[in-house]
Amino acid sequence: MPRIYITTPLYYVNGDPHLGSAYTMIITDTLARYYRLRGWETFYLTGTDEHGDKIAQAAAEAGMDPKAFTDQVSQTFRAAWDLCGITYDHFIRTTDPYHVRYVQELLTKVYEAGDIYFDRYGGLYCFGCERFYTPKELRDGRCPDHLVEPTLIEEENYFFRMGKYQERLRQHIEAHPDFIRPEGFRNEVLAMLREPIGDLCISRPKSRLTWGIEIPFDRRYVTYVWFDALINYVSALKYKGEEMFQKFWPEAQHFIGKDILKPHGVFWPTMLMAAGLPLYKHLNVHGFWTVEGQKMSKSLGNVISPLVMKERIGMDAFRYFLLRESVFGQDADFREESLHARYNADLANNLGNLVSRTLAMQDRYFKGVVQPLDDPPPAIDRQLAAAFTQAAAEVETQVAHLGLSRALEAIFRATDYANKYITETAPFTLAKDPASLPRVGAVLHNLLEALRVAAQLLAPFLPDASTRIFTALALPREQWSAYDVPWGKMFPPGHRVHTAPVLFPRLS
Ligand code: MSP
Repeated sequence: MPRIYITTPLYYVNGDPHLGSAYTMIITDTLARYYRLRGWETFYLTGTDEHGDKIAQAAAEAGMDPKAFTDQVSQTFRAAWDLCGITYDHFIRTTDPYHVRYVQELLTKVYEAGDIYFDRYGGLYCFGCERFYTPKELRDGRCPDHLVEPTLIEEENYFFRMGKYQERLRQHIEAHPDFIRPEGFRNEVLAMLREPIGDLCISRPKSRLTWGIEIPFDRRYVTYVWFDALINYVSALKYKGEEMFQKFWPEAQHFIGKDILKPHGVFWPTMLMAAGLPLYKHLNVHGFWTVEGQKMSKSLGNVISPLVMKERIGMDAFRYFLLRESVFGQDADFREESLHARYNADLANNLGNLVSRTLAMQDRYFKGVVQPLDDPPPAIDRQLAAAFTQAAAEVETQVAHLGLSRALEAIFRATDYANKYITETAPFTLAKDPASLPRVGAVLHNLLEALRVAAQLLAPFLPDASTRIFTALALPREQWSAYDVPWGKMFPPGHRVHTAPVLFPRLS
């Protein structure tokens, strides 16, 4: 049985879920649903990143002890993803005792193998990023992310011999062109590897920071938050058992935003090499969302909350917009105007109308009872079936390359074709003549098949709408993922469908 292990970044618990984190969740949830429905063995991991300066500071600002604070915010994330219908299999917290133990085990292993050493170091440190910068990485002497001048810090610390693995990593990326995708990000990592990457400072003295995982061989230090957090991808599987690790680790696909490319593209694979573990299969890097052309920020007051969107337009419509409006790997812009236009054109008019017109006619002319198809089917009926077969094939090819927007486009092209089929076959006109009722019955049967295939293809993308279509079609759950049932064979004679639900009420 094919397998896939899907991971999201672990979200820092110093904020709330927003458009950016929701986007990663929606992409990964869509893929997890997609593969599960197709019978793949799937493990889907998410969680929260809870150690480090930033979190300690946020806890202090909230006047709370860091553990109590992270308990609370981590729960907010988990509850938000549950309300959004995200179907993760496991939620990891970097404060979970099994994770802490595994990080310490791995540190000990790498230390004993000689790839961690103690040294005195002076460098430019950005507290926002919680890392040292080389002068070259700075922009006009400032941290490119936080735009502040880094502080010169001199202290003794532990270092990971990252540089030792540089060449091996470069060779791996050269030999596996889709290790990091899309290609632009692979090239970015290769560019990073053209300069010496140096070693990585992986400890913080407790005199400066206590909120972290203690270095097991020197209790005066805690572990650098990134070294701790990245290990979650393995510790979660190990927690589920060695068998789970063996099964799923070779199929690991990480999904991240482009801001955290370096830790995932450079730190993590070299850490895995030092730990003697195989590398992940793919690192999938997505772009950033702006809102009406601007960076999303609390101070601008333009932060989009997934729960507010769910309340306003429904989770499916929010999913649709994010997946349809962005190309994986590229930046995208969240605009009210395009949200409105896409919702009304694609969801309300195209899909929504197809569902309501078909089921309304089935009810009016046949009290919901499905009629026989024409035998042999006329060309126009065959073309409709072909449009959906083609959509199904396109979805498959596109999803394999993370072309989720293209996959949706293919499905909506087919439903649009079905609306045109209604116009061309004109069942409402035909129905005026009792002699034409058998043809009307056949046309509607074809349309029910169109709805059935659309609901099957849409299930991972728009799970609620898909469920509502299947329910209206009165199809039992086992049939929902019966993809290979041929056109015309889903509805047994005498099958009765229900009246139409309003899937997407038009936005005014
Ligand atoms: N804690 C680290 C990840 C550790 S993974 C072992 C972290 N957390 S984060 O909460 O700051 O960011 C999580 C993810 O949200 C990142 O992948 C980031 O790219 C993504 N996004 C944050 N803002 C975003 C947008 N505006 N648009 C798209 N994604 C964005 O980094």
